[in-house]
Amino acid sequence: ISLKPYNTFGIDVKAKHFTSISSIDSLIDILSSNIYPNKLILGGGSNMLLTKDVNALVIHINIKGISIISETEDHVIVKANAGEVWHEFVLWCLKHDFGGIENLSLIPGNVGTAPIQNIGAYGVEIKDTFVSCEALNLETKNIETFTNETCNFGYRQSIFKHEAKGKYIICNVTFKLSKKNHELHTGYGAIMSELETQNITQPTIQDVSKAVIAIRQSKLPDPKQIGNSGSFFKNPVISITKYNLLKENFPEIPGYVISNTDIKVPAGWLIEKAGFKGKRFENYGVHNKQALVLVNYGGASGTDILNLSKLIQKTIQQLFDISIEAEVNIL
Ligand code: EPU
Repeated sequence: ISLKPYNTFGIDVKAKHFTSISSIDSLIDILSSNIYPNKLILGGGSNMLLTKDVNALVIHINIKGISIISETEDHVIVKANAGEVWHEFVLWCLKHDFGGIENLSLIPGNVGTAPIQNIGAYGVEIKDTFVSCEALNLETKNIETFTNETCNFGYRQSIFKHEAKGKYIICNVTFKLSKKNHELHTGYGAIMSELETQNITQPTIQDVSKAVIAIRQSKLPDPKQIGNSGSFFKNPVISITKYNLLKENFPEIPGYVISNTDIKVPAGWLIEKAGFKGKRFENYGVHNKQALVLVNYGGASGTDILNLSKLIQKTIQQLFDISIEAEVNIL
């Protein structure tokens, strides 16, 4: 079958076998069977670039359900199953007036894949409300619990990209959210100006979500219309010494100091400066409003996009002596 509907880049590669599973039990059954020795696990397909046909059984994780585990006057513990669409989960929380993930509105993908890269936007990361997740150990077929601490979260990082990579399937995620006195995260410039434009002085979490949605819609292409995987690259971290040297040639280079020695530079700026923003090659290219996003205008192959990403990496290396790393998983 074609995997086109199952990856937000809209790449048309074929899977030899495909199954969608809706419970942990059926997941364990299928993993225990040896009929198809090669298996590929697929969540929301929002952070991967498929470059060739998949000669394996693709297991689509479609376990649904959201439940309240416990609550106090101030907080609620909510568990969401891996197959829930992330943004729909955010909307469910907003409907119940549960605060903490409103800044993460409209991020593509599913609940189960969100912790892997510690999804983050506009000053908030999933780790800020993440309590724990249950994951199936592929070797023992036991369910193990990972706490916020054992997940080892960092910028677009977690244990699931390192020691635990390829060894677990996240089945559900538990969050601690606020029921009142919501702590708003409106410090990010774009959110402030969006709220100002809308004349909102005392925003609710629902207002913050709406502002985030407006910003994202103005900059980021909707995968339903133009295939993409959000930021293709991570923002590189370089030494402040190197940054100051670069500033001599590029006085307007932006940077966010993250420690005494290091600074994070927006890859989007580097890519734009290198002349790639809005560049179109036949049916793929670099988004015209956010240079960090590579797009498939329809019918591009994964290899086309991979080669473009390599060209961008090489150019950035030559121009700025900075290596930028793909955030997207390349398969
Ligand atoms: N910039 C440019 N040109 C561009 C894009 C960005 O010059 O085409 C510069 C500007 O200086 C701008 C700065 O980069 O002020 C920051 O841009 P933006 O606010 O769009 O954020 P970003 O660093 O490019 C990151 C995340 C996004 C997230 C936004 C908002 C990464 C890799 N990306 O992008 O996440 O939505 O911040 O918090 O950290 C994603 O991961 O898929 C994603 C979209």
